[in-house]
Amino acid sequence: MIVSDTFWDFEHAGWNRDALATSYHQHLGEVTAGCIPGLLQAVKLKAGDKILDVACGAGYVAAAAHKVSAEAIGLDFSAAQVRLARQTYPHIRFIEGDAEALPFAEKQFDAVVNSFGMPHVPHPQRAATESFRVLKPDGRFAYASWCEASKCIGISMVYDAIREHGSLDVGLPPGPNFFSYGDLKFASDMLGRAGFRDISGTELPLVWRVPSPEAFIEAISSGTVRAAAVLNRQNPANLENIRHYLRKMILGFEHDGGFAVPMPALVVSAHKPMHH
Ligand SMILES: C[S@@+](CC[C@H](N)C(=O)[O-])C[C@H]1O[C@@H](n2cnc3c(N)ncnc32)[C@H](O)[C@@H]1O
Repeated sequence: MIVSDTFWDFEHAGWNRDALATSYHQHLGEVTAGCIPGLLQAVKLKAGDKILDVACGAGYVAAAAHKVSAEAIGLDFSAAQVRLARQTYPHIRFIEGDAEALPFAEKQFDAVVNSFGMPHVPHPQRAATESFRVLKPDGRFAYASWCEASKCIGISMVYDAIREHGSLDVGLPPGPNFFSYGDLKFASDMLGRAGFRDISGTELPLVWRVPSPEAFIEAISSGTVRAAAVLNRQNPANLENIRHYLRKMILGFEHDGGFAVPMPALVVSAHKPMHH
C-alpha cells in the first residue's frame, strides 16, 4: 500500500480541530492513560531525566513524568492539541512539531515516549529513526499502541460493523495498518532498523468504560480521526445498521452498571546502545 503525504494532511486536519481534541480528551484520554505507568517504567525514568513525549495529545505522559521530577517536553503536530495541553498543564513545555522531523538536535533526551501516536504517522519508520536520533546513547524509547484486531475489540468492532453493514472504501487516503504496532515482531523489525536493541513488549489489559452504547458510538464519531471519517461517510441506512451492530456488541460487555469494552494495548520498550 502506498502511503502518501495526503494521509499526513488528512490526519493533521482531523487532529487540528479543537472539538475533536476536546472529545478525545474527555473520552479516550482516560483509556490511554492506563499505559502511562508502563511507558515510564519501560524507559526507566528517574528524577532529573530529560524526556520527550511525542504525539503528546493533551500531554498525559509528559505530565506524569513531570510529577516524578523529570524534565518533560511534549510535542504534537496539532495546534489544537498543543493548546489543550498548555491549558491542562500550564507548568509544562509543549511545542508543535512533527514526529517524523523532530525539531531537536541529536542526543538530547534520556527518554522518548510515544503514546498511541505511531498509527497516525504516514512513515512510522521515520518516526522511529527520529526518536533514535534525539536520544542520548544508552537512552530508552517506548511506545504504546492498541493490540491486534482480534484482541482490541473496542476498535476492531467498529471496522467489523462497517465491513458487515457498510463500506470501508469511502475514499480516504491510504494509511499504514492501524493494528500492526501491537505486534511485537513488527515492532522489533521497525525499531531494530532504526538502530534500537533489547526490544521487548508488555501487553496491558486496558478497558474503556462507557455509561451506554450510545456514549461509545458518540465518542468514536467525535473523538477519532480515521474511524470517525469512515463512519461519517456511510449512507444513513447503513449507518443505522452499523450503530445497531455496535449497540448489540457493547451490551455484551455490561459491567458494574456500565460497559467495559476490551482495549488491550502493547507497550514496547527499546534501548539505544551506548556506542551510538
Ligand atoms: C491517539 S492520539 C494520542 C494522544 C496521547 N499521546 C494519548 O496517549 O492519549 C494521537 C496524537 O498523535 C498526534 N499526531 C499524529 N500524527 C503526528 C505527527 N506526525 N507528529 C506529531 N504528532 C502527531 C495527534 O495530533 C494526536 O494528538
